[in-house]
Amino acid sequence: LPEPDAVALTDADVVALLPRPGASSDKYRRGVVGIAAGSEHYTGAAVLAVGGALRAGVGMVRYAGSAEPVAQVRAHWPEAVITTLAPGEGVEEVGRVQAWVLGPGLGTGDEARAIARSVLAEDVPVLVDADALTLVAQERSLLRRDAPVLITPHAGELSRLTGVPRELIEARSLENVRRAAAELEVTVLLKGSTTLVAREGRPVRINPTGSPWLATGGTGDVLAGVAGALLAAGLSGYDAASCAAYLHGIAGRRGPLAASDVAEALPETVRSLVNGLRQGR
Ligand code: APR
Ligand code: MG
Repeated sequence: LPEPDAVALTDADVVALLPRPGASSDKYRRGVVGIAAGSEHYTGAAVLAVGGALRAGVGMVRYAGSAEPVAQVRAHWPEAVITTLAPGEGVEEVGRVQAWVLGPGLGTGDEARAIARSVLAEDVPVLVDADALTLVAQERSLLRRDAPVLITPHAGELSRLTGVPRELIEARSLENVRRAAAELEVTVLLKGSTTLVAREGRPVRINPTGSPWLATGGTGDVLAGVAGALLAAGLSGYDAASCAAYLHGIAGRRGPLAASDVAEALPETVRSLVNGLRQGR
């Protein structure tokens, strides 16, 4: 049978895809994610991305950044293993990770560019978000790599990357996300009131969860951490993006919230999803 052009994600899809640790699992097998995010003036994005990854159940977070975000990440997340990067330094000394999250609050100056180049030179999947999307729009060759790339733009960021006007992306999002994935040869998670996930040769996945309460600064950074955790656990970009958007959307349904509340709601979200399905809900 030919695959449909677009499909809505369901509870069952996500429960089937979600990695859950077996009795003899260990933190390396569960996945180690590297997070390169935050900068002098945007320290919160780093804290939120690390929090999203930890609350999604990653085996370990290795965080790399400059002194200011390092101090904040250390204060908020004693779980994170931290590398402080000197100006101009890349992530070569950070140690093994199975996937990287690159971009939230990173900035777009020379220091950010050095970090972005070094992350994209690593031979593991990379999630590219926020400021790193601006950097790769300026330096397209950065996306040419063997290991997979997952980009997580909102319509404005995808517009900068493709040249398609933002209004057009929003009005014809299915068609534009599909074309972007094919032309850029990456997986695209297009954020918005309805979030879409596209990969060439696969149906566009439509995320039915979510809520306008998510329209608050920093929720995108949490989403990047969640998707990065799932990439590190071994899911493809397409599956990691789908599960992350779905869980993040449910976690964001609980009334007025701050981005950190979305991360905090993730464990209960996963628990009730898995239990609900087992009870045949
Ligand atoms: N309904 C449902 N979900 C929504 C809605 C809505 N009306 N509006 C936003 N969202 C969700 C998106 O799908 C996404 O998951 O909220 C999240 C917002 O993520 P981002 O757009 O990445 O925003 P964020 O990074 O958290 O914060 C603002 O975005 O515009 C840029 O540069 C700006 O740094 C700033 C950042
Ligand atoms: Mg964002």
